Amino acid sequence: MTVSLTSQDPAHLAVDALVVAVAQRDGAPVVLGAERLPAQLRTELADAAALGVTGAADEVRRLPGTGLAATVVVLTGVGPEDKVTPEVLRRAAGAATRELAGTASVGLALPADDAASVTAVAEGALFGAYSYTRYRASEVTKQAPVRAIQVVTAHPRDAAALAGAARAAIVADAVHGTRDLVNAAPNDLYPAAFADAAKTAVKDSGAKGLKVTVLDDKALAAGGYGGLLGVGQGSVRGPRLVKVAYTPSRPKAKVALVGKGITFDSGGISIKPAAGMEAMKSDMAGAAAVLHTVIAAARLELPVAVTGWLCLAENMPSGTAQRPSDVLTIRGGTTVEVLNTDAEGRLVMADGLVAAVEEKPDAVIDIATLTGAQVVALGHRVSAVMGTDDVRGEVVAAAQASGEQFWPMPLPSDLRAGLKSKVADLANIGDRFGGMLTAGIFLQEFVGQTPWAHLDIAGPAYNERSAHGYTPVGGTGVGVRTMLALLEGRAPTA
Ligand code: BES
Ligand code: MN
Ligand code: ZN
Repeated sequence: MTVSLTSQDPAHLAVDALVVAVAQRDGAPVVLGAERLPAQLRTELADAAALGVTGAADEVRRLPGTGLAATVVVLTGVGPEDKVTPEVLRRAAGAATRELAGTASVGLALPADDAASVTAVAEGALFGAYSYTRYRASEVTKQAPVRAIQVVTAHPRDAAALAGAARAAIVADAVHGTRDLVNAAPNDLYPAAFADAAKTAVKDSGAKGLKVTVLDDKALAAGGYGGLLGVGQGSVRGPRLVKVAYTPSRPKAKVALVGKGITFDSGGISIKPAAGMEAMKSDMAGAAAVLHTVIAAARLELPVAVTGWLCLAENMPSGTAQRPSDVLTIRGGTTVEVLNTDAEGRLVMADGLVAAVEEKPDAVIDIATLTGAQVVALGHRVSAVMGTDDVRGEVVAAAQASGEQFWPMPLPSDLRAGLKSKVADLANIGDRFGGMLTAGIFLQEFVGQTPWAHLDIAGPAYNERSAHGYTPVGGTGVGVRTMLALLEGRAPTA
């Protein structure tokens, strides 16, 4: 997949499909930049409403490219004309390239003349140019994503726009790599396979300063990682803790990222209902996002040291599985009574957080498909962020800047009482209500005084409904953009 900038006349652009934006002005559709189109096509599109086009977001229409070098003209809706933000452009570009799967080359003539808009169009087009075909044996059911993307802009040699497009390609690789891992079947992606995939992804990136270390069952036992071992003991495929470290030559900051990597969450002995359990192959989305964020940071040569921790285990019921009432000892010595084996994410994350904090980072960010309560509270498109006030605010700002939706949530101290155990330091479940916050309070026990944010992406990580904007069905890659923007903010390059 490639992306380039051009100031060529859209009519003469040698592409298979030319994408233009349709906005809503006083409720009526208007084709933006219509004056740049050939007269006959302009006439044909003049009454867009008569063609059934409204200009609403996520509306994509293909029409004959009369007078264009391109075969088709594609109208992509951007909604109200006065509310066209970079994220609106990102989604409209992505909706178009997503709908154009099977088309090789696409030109986008959207309103993009400042660097931020050009970057947004490039990103959205790349994010939309994704399809997951690993398991499609028949060529008939495969649809190749758009391969070549050209973004039309008045200033194709503007340094900021060029840098934005180059960064967009790296971010898109990270988002797509995350989606690929989430979409992989759990019989192929078990903890050891994920660890191998991490090594391969690091190697293939060609980026300098990256190092992968894998702790297997034996090393985990020696290191006292009782959370990972307890959760993983029901599976014949043992747990792993993978450390992916990026060390630039002169780091200006040091940040740790910790990701939940449950390659399949059956619930364990506290087994989940059969309906919908297949979605639990996505319970490793946090670890996938961490892996690819670290790789992207290295490719961008950010002057910040980043250590990713992938907490990998498969949560299965079996004769060797942990039981409700088992007591585990997390690395560092805190004991936890397992009252529900389906609250496994916090157990593996506790080990990962302790390991991360031991290296004294300036801040630690954790990301996990942690609770169903997150979905109840915020739905399928808005993630939650909890933590210390400073880092939580930083995450919200980074999300805003990158076009992801993270909403701040509290960690009310009264919920700590619910986590009291009759026998151990902590229980792994607490109050029935506010379950997302209780999970955050549990994790807080393991970060000490380190500035910290906890990202719960349970709903947004995996799209079980229909595709929208640049978001496909299946793995979404959520979190990568926000974490990367946060790292960039910690290490200004300019
Ligand atoms: N992986 C799930 C959370 C989840 C639910 C992710 C829905 C994505 C979509 C997690 O391990 C889990 O099972 N959490 C339980 C915790 C409860 C037992 C305290 C939950 O949220 O029901
Ligand atoms: Mn669970
Ligand atoms: Zn889980």
